[in-house]
Amino acid sequence: MNTYQKVSLKSYNSFGISSVANKLIECQSVEEVKSSLNDIKGSKYYILGGGNNVLFADLFDGIILRPNILGISVVNEDDNFIDVKAGAGEDWDSFVAYTVDKNYGGLENLSLIPGTVGASPVQNIGAYGAEVKDTIICVEGVFVSSGEYFSLTNEECLFGYRNSIFKSKYKGDAIITHVTFRLNKHPEVNISYAPVRDAMAIRCTNTIQAVREEIINIRNNKLPDPKVTGNAGSFFKNPEVSSSVFNELKTNYPAIPSYQLTNGDVKIPAAWLIEHCGWKGKSLGRAAVHHIQPLVLINNGNATADDILKLANAIISDVKNKFGIELNMEVNYVK
Ligand code: EPU
Repeated sequence: MNTYQKVSLKSYNSFGISSVANKLIECQSVEEVKSSLNDIKGSKYYILGGGNNVLFADLFDGIILRPNILGISVVNEDDNFIDVKAGAGEDWDSFVAYTVDKNYGGLENLSLIPGTVGASPVQNIGAYGAEVKDTIICVEGVFVSSGEYFSLTNEECLFGYRNSIFKSKYKGDAIITHVTFRLNKHPEVNISYAPVRDAMAIRCTNTIQAVREEIINIRNNKLPDPKVTGNAGSFFKNPEVSSSVFNELKTNYPAIPSYQLTNGDVKIPAAWLIEHCGWKGKSLGRAAVHHIQPLVLINNGNATADDILKLANAIISDVKNKFGIELNMEVNYVK
């Protein structure tokens, strides 16, 4: 277990915000996680994964706990499926690369998402027609409040769009240590997302290796690399509205794009709303809206959390005034 005092979080968040925390504790095993509980109980604390979905306030007067548990093992298999268990600290995309390399299908559409394995169930990461919930069979960890070990089934995780029990009932209480995924030994490609389907048609192939390559291409062309430009991926969630609200919008804005949801509601791309408020590629102070994907806010260099929030609030207010829709942050603001 490594403990650091008065530590800069700049290298611990993909936004590159120069925040300072009172203390940072890094744990390499479940035992270390359990013994760290004495330090964090009664204090303000935050459990950090890869730091790719957070916006830290400039000062975090509490403890950052980073479970950095590594290891990948096969726990079960039959002719069709293989269950692979990974430590929460494993880098997400290296793990996806490992599974695709072995031709175990299920995670290839989630290639190149920044972050760790342990963070993947928390917001049920999703991209290009896939969500991680469709492969997870169990999430293990330790509760801060009781110190007890937990193992939750897929159903018990209450997964939803960018949501899970780890963002509601167990928010701040569950330290995820391992995630087990059920992968397909005879993979079928998921090309439900049109740009992936088009790219695969040109290549005349249907391997998961090719899907991974194409998704890496699409992401590299569309999304800023956090190693170069500070950002936290999608800053907002795509809003969901009732069909009557949507029909009214459609009358006023016939070109508005949408996805029909199974519950009758309609999901609208926040990127379109933001672009049509004139924010695409625009800056406000040291924060900016990405010029290709306006759902992503970027750090123009030395931005503070306040700079990012000022921009976010200006966008929220413009979208609300123009379309009557309230955008919600996807990124966690930690203060
Ligand atoms: N659009 C515009 N203007 C733009 C860009 C996009 O109007 O400049 C509209 C278009 O109508 C486009 C639509 O937005 O069809 C959707 O865009 P895109 O397919 O790029 O995806 P998204 O809905 O903006 C979601 C996820 C991303 C994920 C992509 C791809 C959320 C909040 N975001 O974005 O996830 O990579 O789909 O599947 O659901 C992340 O969570 O960090 C993330 C990047």
